[in-house]
Amino acid sequence: MLDQIADIGRDAQRGGYSRHAYTKPEVELRHWFAEQAERRGLAVETDRNGNLWAWWGEPGANALVTGSHLDSVPGGGAFDGPLGVTSSLQAVDLLQAKGFTPGRPFAVAVFAEEEGGRFGVACLGSRLLSGAIDAAKALSLKDPDGVTLAEAMKAAGHDPERVGRDDEALGRIGQFVELHVEQGRGLTVPVGVASSILAHGRWRFTFAGEGNHAGATLIEDRRDPMVPAAQLVIAARRAARDGGRATVGRIVPNPGGTNVIASTVDVWLDARDSDDARTRAMVAEISEAARQAAAEEGCEVRIAEESYGDTVHFDPRLRDDIANALGGVPALPTGAGHDAGILAAHVPTAMLFVRNPTGVSHAPEEFAEQADVDEGVRALAATIEHLGS
Ligand code: GLV
Ligand code: MN
Ligand code: MN
Ligand code: MN
Repeated sequence: MLDQIADIGRDAQRGGYSRHAYTKPEVELRHWFAEQAERRGLAVETDRNGNLWAWWGEPGANALVTGSHLDSVPGGGAFDGPLGVTSSLQAVDLLQAKGFTPGRPFAVAVFAEEEGGRFGVACLGSRLLSGAIDAAKALSLKDPDGVTLAEAMKAAGHDPERVGRDDEALGRIGQFVELHVEQGRGLTVPVGVASSILAHGRWRFTFAGEGNHAGATLIEDRRDPMVPAAQLVIAARRAARDGGRATVGRIVPNPGGTNVIASTVDVWLDARDSDDARTRAMVAEISEAARQAAAEEGCEVRIAEESYGDTVHFDPRLRDDIANALGGVPALPTGAGHDAGILAAHVPTAMLFVRNPTGVSHAPEEFAEQADVDEGVRALAATIEHLGS
């Protein structure tokens, strides 16, 4: 089924896919999903926060919900997100073919802006739905072109006035199960279940110095914010010890000219570790190094936390119940964030992982073998049958 959307949102410059929330390719994917769901007799609705719900039978309380997301990181792979959506639809196919109908409300959900690839905050759709982010704060988030979430939603036909915690939509979820491609090399059999997600967040460092001429300004006269920005990258690598992960994947110098000393530089830090204390300590260490490096260069630095979430431990009973129903598949932790991690604070939540032989994700080389994808669909169908009868 991924072949059906293989041409949507290809990024010729970066390679892979750039399918950002409320942009043309992402809107096209939403239409594709709605059409596929309707073809299977599911009734599609969009909630107040731009998430899609496809109901098999009547919507209602204590629903079993599965699904994932269709948006991507810049230059992402074909599987992160879409695999959970196509597998949900194909699981419905398998169940319909054998004459199964859910004995409780059942929906396939597609969450908006899971990657934060456009507005910077990951899992935005599920955070808004569950009240994990303030609506006004979210609506004022800007994409790299300065377009706010409010403007982008409006342009895509959504009413930004209705955005915010949605107790009705959240209250209907009885259990949530998300299938996802595994994103490291942690899974050596076709399918597993998730045990936990690392504590993780994003921080924005803005270094301010003095814009000037690259040729006419003596080195000793410079206040170049690129210098502390570079030291932040090294500090992040040094601070990530014993399983901690710290990444600088995005640096934006302003104005960004080869022969121009930047006046300001924005650097985004993604930091993750096993628990809150370790993650906070790592970020504190990196922040201190950034402040020192800025002072040495005569620059200022402003540090803002853009999003954060503590360690997620998935519901052990649901996890074990699913693992047993699938014949005893392994449970593994993950360093990647998911809408399932946000929803886990409110409802029993589980994840199924499909083996990724490359161990690569958030890059065009992300991969899963067809046989493993098929196994994932069968496992999800068996899970729905087990939980949803
Ligand atoms: C999402 O995939 C994340 O872990 O950043
Ligand atoms: Mn991802
Ligand atoms: Mn994902
Ligand atoms: Mn000149």
